[in-house]
Amino acid sequence: MSVLPSTHPAASLCGGSPAPVVRTRALHVVPEARTLPSVVGAGLRVPTLHGETAYANLDHAASTPALETVKAAVDRALETYSSVHRGAGFASRLTSAWYEQARAEVAAFVGAREGDAVIFTRTTTDSWALLSKALPSRTTVFVFGTEHHSTLLPWGRFRTVRLPVPQTVEDAHALLEEALADHPSRHRLVVVAAASNVTGEVWPIERFATLAHEHGARIAVDAAQLSAHRPIDLAAWDADYVAFSGHKTYAPYGVGVLAGRSDWLDAGNPYLLGGGATRSVTEDGTTWATGPARHEGGSPNVIGAIALAAACSTISRHREAIEEHETRLLERLRAGLEGVAGVEVLSIFGDDSDRVGVVAFTIDGWDSSLVSQVLSVEHGIGVRDGKFCAHLLIDELLEDPWGERSSTAVRASIGLGSTLEGVERLVAAVATLVEHGTDADWTLTESGWALEGTDPRDVEVERPW
Ligand code: ALA
Repeated sequence: MSVLPSTHPAASLCGGSPAPVVRTRALHVVPEARTLPSVVGAGLRVPTLHGETAYANLDHAASTPALETVKAAVDRALETYSSVHRGAGFASRLTSAWYEQARAEVAAFVGAREGDAVIFTRTTTDSWALLSKALPSRTTVFVFGTEHHSTLLPWGRFRTVRLPVPQTVEDAHALLEEALADHPSRHRLVVVAAASNVTGEVWPIERFATLAHEHGARIAVDAAQLSAHRPIDLAAWDADYVAFSGHKTYAPYGVGVLAGRSDWLDAGNPYLLGGGATRSVTEDGTTWATGPARHEGGSPNVIGAIALAAACSTISRHREAIEEHETRLLERLRAGLEGVAGVEVLSIFGDDSDRVGVVAFTIDGWDSSLVSQVLSVEHGIGVRDGKFCAHLLIDELLEDPWGERSSTAVRASIGLGSTLEGVERLVAAVATLVEHGTDADWTLTESGWALEGTDPRDVEVERPW
């Protein structure tokens, strides 16, 4: 390892001495690994009504566990942890170099083009908040009712054209085409999820990018539910922006990403006013930095950036094995649930759509919130229930004029922390519930479903600090 002087533009953001870049071998091409990467906590056992059992993690759409490689990278980086672009000491120079190398790793992971910005944020929600504040004034934003609230809401009510939940991809295409034709404006942005956080269905991003560009609009892609499962490729998609987060990409260290065209980002208001985002401050005024620094005010989350870079590197190297694992589990999950009477799997575009490992379902006559409690307490299975921060979509998919159906759903979602045994256990548990009911007695209280008697999960566990 050698330390070289650097002219990196991100150096010396607070007016200190320039931070040299440390040359490492971080970005060489590593051959595809056929094995599955391991996650931290894979052996977790949890208490249930029937004793301890292996935890069946079917909740990856909410948050993924950390990869072992991520934990190792963080542990190593903490040994020399120091300030980023704010110090002349060796540890600061090394930490600063790793921060920029993490940016380069993420740039490669999202297929960034020459000149694209890669900005570290806190979450996908934070990335969209940043972009919404950097848009040229009077930009019109087009967004479908299928979207997660973080993608649906930040644009402001008066400049958002909200499109209904489509029935098919063709329908979505036609709705967007009509809306773009009906709302001409100098600056327009289409925002669409690459994969739904409710149904897992994958949207054909290239088609929507082509359509947006034909109408002179830009397109921003929410890849929060894609990043851990399928490639993100700004260049191949010909998309303008992408956002995703570490906590759904096996790097739960409070980091997110916004990547894409730098012109609007360089011209827009800095997101966080403060140290690091300035070029100069005098009594007469402030000159703001351009590039990622403009929107990364304050000391950056370098540990989050390093964690995410490690995750991106590992996922890229194990891509084929990850996709094989998830396809196998998803097929079994869908086939199993569809074989249980009264179970309905939710879908926007229909059963044959391409999807990542996210399956939302309802069970006739069963409240979804009770189902997820039963799965946890009686079977040691972790899922999520509710409307998944996608109220418009869930209300549309569960529309029930007679009010007999659950107004929420249960969602099982697959990732590297899921096993075939966990999927089989879920399918068997749902079938048992439908055929024989619950093992325990449950009461609906003001704070939700409660077990009659002692909840086995109420055990005393030492704090981790
Ligand atoms: N957005 C995350 C989910 O869909 C938290 O569960």
